[in-house]
Amino acid sequence: MAAKTERTFIAVKPDGVQRGLIGEIVKRFEQKGFRLVAMKFLQASEDLLKQHYIDLKDRPFYPGLVKYMSSGPVAAMVWEGLNVVKTGRVMLGETNPADSKPGTIRGDFCIEVGRNIIHGSDSVDSANKEISLWFKPEELQSYNRHPRVCVFCFVLF
Ligand SMILES: Nc1ncnc2c1ncn2[C@@H]1O[C@H](COP(=O)(O)OP(=O)(O)O)[C@@H](O)[C@H]1O
Ligand SMILES: [Mg+2]
Repeated sequence: MAAKTERTFIAVKPDGVQRGLIGEIVKRFEQKGFRLVAMKFLQASEDLLKQHYIDLKDRPFYPGLVKYMSSGPVAAMVWEGLNVVKTGRVMLGETNPADSKPGTIRGDFCIEVGRNIIHGSDSVDSANKEISLWFKPEELQSYNRHPRVCVFCFVLF
């Protein structure tokens, strides 16, 4: 399938915030070339988180997951760019940090599945649902990042 410009919902979870990893995570998405579309810092309600994780409602870890996610502030973001949903997931690593390769966010910064520091949408559909759950349309910014030009061939990248 052709690569497409998409948006994804990324959140630094309460443990990531406690560990001081917001800047590191923003840096990785920014330096990769994705565009920040929205960002807010909030302690999410259990209702919001139950909705966010509704697909997991029958899993045994669901109540604990909702409690953990509502235990402190999270940094909620929307990032945009070519194939950002899939590439974002690659940058995160696997759900279980033990299966995540070094170089990925979970591979580099955590060890437990129940404390895996970051959320990222797993499909374009869930990204759209999550973005509208966490953000109002007017909170999403539209702009262009300053283009970089190859000095040899003048191609924008
Ligand atoms: N077996 C588990 N035990 C405890 N928490 C879990 C477990 N599996 C998943 N979780 C938590 O639920 C979150 C959502 O699960 P899932 O959507 O499957 O993973 P991902 O966050 O990689 O999309 C995980 O990021 C993790 O915080
Ligand atoms: Mg998921």
